[in-house]
Amino acid sequence: MLYPARSMNSASLAANAKHTTPDNAQHAVDLLLSRRSHWPLSEPAPDQQHLERIFDAAMRAPDHGRLRPQRFVVIRGEARHAFGELLVDLAAARNPGDPRSAHAHRRQRAMAAPLIVALAAVIDGNSSVPELEQLLCAGAAAMNMLNVIHLYGYGGFWATGIDTYEPAMHRALGLDANERLLGFLFVGTPANDKENQPSQRPSSDAYVREWQPFEHAAAPA
Ligand SMILES: Cc1cc2nc3c(=O)[nH]c(=O)nc-3n(C[C@H](O)[C@H](O)[C@H](O)COP(=O)(O)O)c2cc1C
Repeated sequence: MLYPARSMNSASLAANAKHTTPDNAQHAVDLLLSRRSHWPLSEPAPDQQHLERIFDAAMRAPDHGRLRPQRFVVIRGEARHAFGELLVDLAAARNPGDPRSAHAHRRQRAMAAPLIVALAAVIDGNSSVPELEQLLCAGAAAMNMLNVIHLYGYGGFWATGIDTYEPAMHRALGLDANERLLGFLFVGTPANDKENQPSQRPSSDAYVREWQPFEHAAAPA
């Protein structure tokens, strides 16, 4: 759906441009283009001030209907040990025949970063905004977080894994029935120099095309 554009007069254009210059805009873009995921992650995690900015960035996600669906549960410090036990419990319940020791590596997963953020979306079922759009808002929030994590020089990794879709995990995180778990952001400092190298990406050319009016004419009614 198209929305009436808020008119941009020259004063608001100037206000928009004021916070940037071509040089620092290019620098910001270069930094964004060097983002990659990192695993595992070590200390330090973002300090409280950085963490607040990371969450502020999450609240900058485009949000149809201003529903603010994004929710975050922070798991850090000693709580990670209990989170590791939870991962083992869930795996043991899925595989009752296995010895509990078979799932010991899951404790390490919980310790793979100094900070873990569980990402959730509250779905407003009474809103005219489709559920998909509410989920996309929370996903965009996560992407903003990964970008700011990177801009501050930390590293992040978005992981789901089977646990994300287990009701027992939802209960353990205290999520309500109308909340959907979207995974976990593992956050910290890239553990080794190799991890700091930008990874290769395909050129965007193959993923972008220009719409042609004839496509519209040929589309079935
Ligand atoms: C919603 C979501 C869930 C993901 N879950 C996993 C996962 O469980 N395990 C995994 O190895 N990668 C997972 N990934 C992919 C990684 O986060 C990461 O994007 C991938 O390793 C590629 O790294 P890059 O971000 O540097 O391209 C997931 C990505 C998204 C968007």
